[in-house]
Amino acid sequence: MIDLRSDTVTKPTPAMRRAMAEAEVGDDVYGEDPTINRLQERAAEIFEKEAAIFVPTGSMGNQIAVKLHTRPGSEVVIEERGHIYNYEMAAMSAVSGTLARPVRSVDGTGILNWGEIEAAIHVGSAYYVAPTALVALENSHNLAGGRVYTSARMEEICERAHALKLPVHLDGARIFNASAALGEPVAALARSADSVMFCLSKGLGAPVGSMLLGSRAFIDEARVWRKILGGGMRQAGVLAAAGLIALEESPKLLHEDHANARRLAEGLAEVNGIKIDPERVVTNIVLFDVSETGIAADEICLRLKERNVLASGFGSSIRMVTHYDVSGADIETTLREMQKAVGSRQ
Ligand SMILES: Cc1ncc(COP(=O)(O)O)c(C=O)c1O
Repeated sequence: MIDLRSDTVTKPTPAMRRAMAEAEVGDDVYGEDPTINRLQERAAEIFEKEAAIFVPTGSMGNQIAVKLHTRPGSEVVIEERGHIYNYEMAAMSAVSGTLARPVRSVDGTGILNWGEIEAAIHVGSAYYVAPTALVALENSHNLAGGRVYTSARMEEICERAHALKLPVHLDGARIFNASAALGEPVAALARSADSVMFCLSKGLGAPVGSMLLGSRAFIDEARVWRKILGGGMRQAGVLAAAGLIALEESPKLLHEDHANARRLAEGLAEVNGIKIDPERVVTNIVLFDVSETGIAADEICLRLKERNVLASGFGSSIRMVTHYDVSGADIETTLREMQKAVGSRQ
């Protein structure tokens, strides 16, 4: 099977499995797991933040951040396709009592500018208008096809938000992909955000785990909320050991996934009825419209599955995500099978 549904499907590498078997461990609820402590220190160092905490999932990291930055009855300004809003089980309302204020990016890229954000903010409004408590950004933006915020755009948004005394949380599940695409360090992309979450378990290839970063006081509070949410783990150094390898080694390889994604997009643009601009594919996510094939996206995914290629259908779009378990040869196979699944121009 060529599994292009997501980069979450990556399996741990042999080096990760060895490190897991040999990991030094302790009870992390007591703060005594040396491997987790090392991972947290390295992550904080790489991102140039005061502190970091290992959390089981990206969703938990994001939701702890929403909880700490907001209060019940307030709103979170977020792009309308943001993961926190669409794919975290309405946790922002269940856990934090907050509501999303979704914003559409006018140029359709999913990357917001300050004007779009500002228009959705309520600060110092009438008492009967819910106040904005947080701006949440996503880099790279998953459902927008892996598009990226530059550090300049991040800084502009954060500066303006801070001037209104609003914190900014960055869902950086795939921030290393954004970094590889832009040639900017993750620290530069995260510098002006008050908190950032990134996933070890997506393109970086670790089996489990994400990191939440911010000031020391913020991370001390995050530790309390991780426990409340049931995320206090014990000898989880076996997971952190794989995470350390993911953090140190995997970012160097992401440009290969990006090259594969671009090649995939160029090939798909040649398939009759598929609409995609390969120039817009800058990271490892390839999102394309299949409405003009006359075949539903789910049906195309089913046909591809019969041909040993897995992809995800979203309405009239299909998403394919490259990762280290997908080779250049797999991309060529996928393109051939896609031609057969929907018919070619020739
Ligand atoms: C942009 C983004 N944020 C957060 C998450 C949540 O990560 P997890 O699946 O570890 O909860 C995902 C998962 O796909 C994601 O794509």
